[in-house]
Amino acid sequence: MKKRVLSGCRASGKLHLGNYLGGIKGMIELQNNPQYETFYMVANAHAITTPYSPKELKEDTIDVIIDYLSAGLDPEKSTLFIQSQVSEHFELAYYFSSIVSIARMQHLPTYKEKVKQYPQNNTMALLNYPVLMAADILVYKANLVPVGIDQEPHLEVAREIARKMNQLYGTNFPEPVRFSTPGEYIPSLKGEGKMSKSVEDSYINLTDSLDEIRKKIRSIPTATISGGPIKGGIKTLFLLAELFLRQTDYQKFKDQYHNGSLKFVTIKDVLAETIYQELKPFQEKRNQIAQNKDYLEKVIKQGAEKARAIASETLKEIKEKMGLM
Ligand code: TRP
Repeated sequence: MKKRVLSGCRASGKLHLGNYLGGIKGMIELQNNPQYETFYMVANAHAITTPYSPKELKEDTIDVIIDYLSAGLDPEKSTLFIQSQVSEHFELAYYFSSIVSIARMQHLPTYKEKVKQYPQNNTMALLNYPVLMAADILVYKANLVPVGIDQEPHLEVAREIARKMNQLYGTNFPEPVRFSTPGEYIPSLKGEGKMSKSVEDSYINLTDSLDEIRKKIRSIPTATISGGPIKGGIKTLFLLAELFLRQTDYQKFKDQYHNGSLKFVTIKDVLAETIYQELKPFQEKRNQIAQNKDYLEKVIKQGAEKARAIASETLKEIKEKMGLM
């Protein structure tokens, strides 16, 4: 039997370079490997765990589907769907919540961060975020989850739930592991922390023009002269250079840095141009797909049907084993 893969992106606006390198590239790689059966969703129900606007959420949800398709996810190979259209996720999350302690959830770093960020929004849904994520994965009995390293604490919760369910109710949930890609940690353009939608000027959008990318890359804080230890914004710059430039160019710039002859604006502009070239085919495809509403509707409908067929099987089994009628 093929191994199953599940992943999702939160619906919170268009995707940025960090989402692409840390998540979507891995999702595409697994989709194109015949050993795997892949399920990729838009986590729109997770988006309501922090303050949001209903109108924007709807647009953001469709935007992620368009981004998926434009980046190379193929509805013939992967099941692409919207989380809220497969209600089995929420039903399973509720059953799972009966074996998860409140204290365990309160101690997760992601939960603490969000409460700090939105003190007025310390809700049950926020506390339950990892339980719903475990249900997203386990409702398909997925073994592999291509996501960024920041999601590791959530995967640990999913494994704990799988183990406990198997012990208590004799189910056969696999313990899902993370599938990592080289670009899993993309640093912020501001020189500290990671590239994040919630930090202004920290990210490059997949739809940015060459001018926008150049402006953003030029704004990475570097020094006036080169040489010395590689840290802060200079580290960010070299990390991006390593991911995007040819190995020989990367090495050339690094040598120049160490012998003090590097002009930062030169490497920055080469990097900006290279990132833009990588994004250009995506942008062209995106413009086409965004206009094709019928196609999008069809993809979304078929994805939900395929996902539901499998999720409902799992629910049937779990209800029976838990003594629910
Ligand atoms: N929590 C993930 C993120 O912020 C999104 C997500 C929700 C997810 N459910 C998932 C990722 C299931 C992988 C599997 O990126």
